[in-house]
Amino acid sequence: MIKVDYSQALLNEDVSVYQDSVSKVAKELMEHTGKGSDYTGWVDWPDNYDHEEFQRVIKIAQRIRKDCEIFLVCGIGGSYLGARSALEFMKGLYPELGPEIIFAGNTFSPVYLSQLLNHLEGKKVYLNVISKSGTTTETSVSFRIFQQYIEKKYPSDANKHIIATTDKAKGTLKELATKKGYETFVIPDNIGGRYSVFTSVGLLPLAVAGIDIEQLMKGSCDAYKELQADKIENNPAYQYAVCRRILAKQGKVAEMLVTYEPNQTMIAEWWKQLFGESEGKEGKGILPVSATFTTDLHSLGQFIQEGTKLLFETVLKVDKPLVDYSFPKDEENLDKMNYLAGKSLDWVNKMAMEGTIDAHVNTGKVPNVVIEVPDASAYSYGYLIYFFFKACAISCYLLDINPFNQPGVEVYKKKMFKLLGKE
Ligand code: PA5
Repeated sequence: MIKVDYSQALLNEDVSVYQDSVSKVAKELMEHTGKGSDYTGWVDWPDNYDHEEFQRVIKIAQRIRKDCEIFLVCGIGGSYLGARSALEFMKGLYPELGPEIIFAGNTFSPVYLSQLLNHLEGKKVYLNVISKSGTTTETSVSFRIFQQYIEKKYPSDANKHIIATTDKAKGTLKELATKKGYETFVIPDNIGGRYSVFTSVGLLPLAVAGIDIEQLMKGSCDAYKELQADKIENNPAYQYAVCRRILAKQGKVAEMLVTYEPNQTMIAEWWKQLFGESEGKEGKGILPVSATFTTDLHSLGQFIQEGTKLLFETVLKVDKPLVDYSFPKDEENLDKMNYLAGKSLDWVNKMAMEGTIDAHVNTGKVPNVVIEVPDASAYSYGYLIYFFFKACAISCYLLDINPFNQPGVEVYKKKMFKLLGKE
């Protein structure tokens, strides 16, 4: 399903030298005995997820879709990036049908919040607040504002318009939701935020948007099964993990995830959180950065081609685009563009990709790894995301790092709380 092509990654080592180490850490991951094993519930989740809760998600999503113009999702980090990336990947940036899904709770920006409140006016709104801890400040600030908005708008049944996705038993949000009578969905104890898109965190917003979440789970489950192949040569997740380690050893300190469609930019944002928070600790890790080509070739292209040789690129190649468009012929040809008449824009994009890889690798000496997926379906998204989960965990274990905590994030919070006067 997924292919990892590392023939242009300029590796100076054979990936198979990592076979023993990969087999060892993969076993630890699958048996839940490695570092951070309390948070490895995501590993078998596609095969043993809570089917009752899944059906509840489908049911409430059907009800909401009948009566909703805006579905507001309030969450940050792993509590929104997965759903947003999935939605844009599968539906594009201007989807035609279904409620508008809007993400909030990921910023303190007064501009964003005020303008969003204006945008909600006169529309039928539902609110899904998502927070595992139930205390994340960005989310709590936005949630209070939108909760008050909903309570004013629907005085008799506000609680039917708010859904909370949080811990099953504890936390401020869980307590609040119980008191207010909101329907709640669970983020399992053993699944951390950035590994949670296959739980109700991702599934509810996606089901409301009309995405086939059964296919999404099927894709993740097939990945769960297929990516257990022991041999690196048969396992794209291991190939990607090992390439990252070899390139890091060659002195590459940054990895740029490159996408070629603006509606895949959020996949890169999600990926940055996954790899950044999982791997960037103990003074180790590769800096995850991203670019959307060809747009960013006109800003970053010069640096990549000829600047400091600090990075490698990982190109996400989606074979079949969500939609395609045929470039028109013009009888006058004043713009001299008729050489492309009748060609599909996806073909143009793919030629740009091929030319860019050639330029960066062969002239610029920038290693390129290509990750190829067949299409932008729910199944492929599910497969791709599980692939990244697994590759990331293996990559971290090869560095002897616990991928499932994020102690560094607490430092800014403490400083901020002091300044905000939080007791
Ligand atoms: O990966 C993680 O666990 C974090 O990045 C969280 O997703 C993020 O901080 C949001 O946390 P919460 O869901 O508790 O509000």
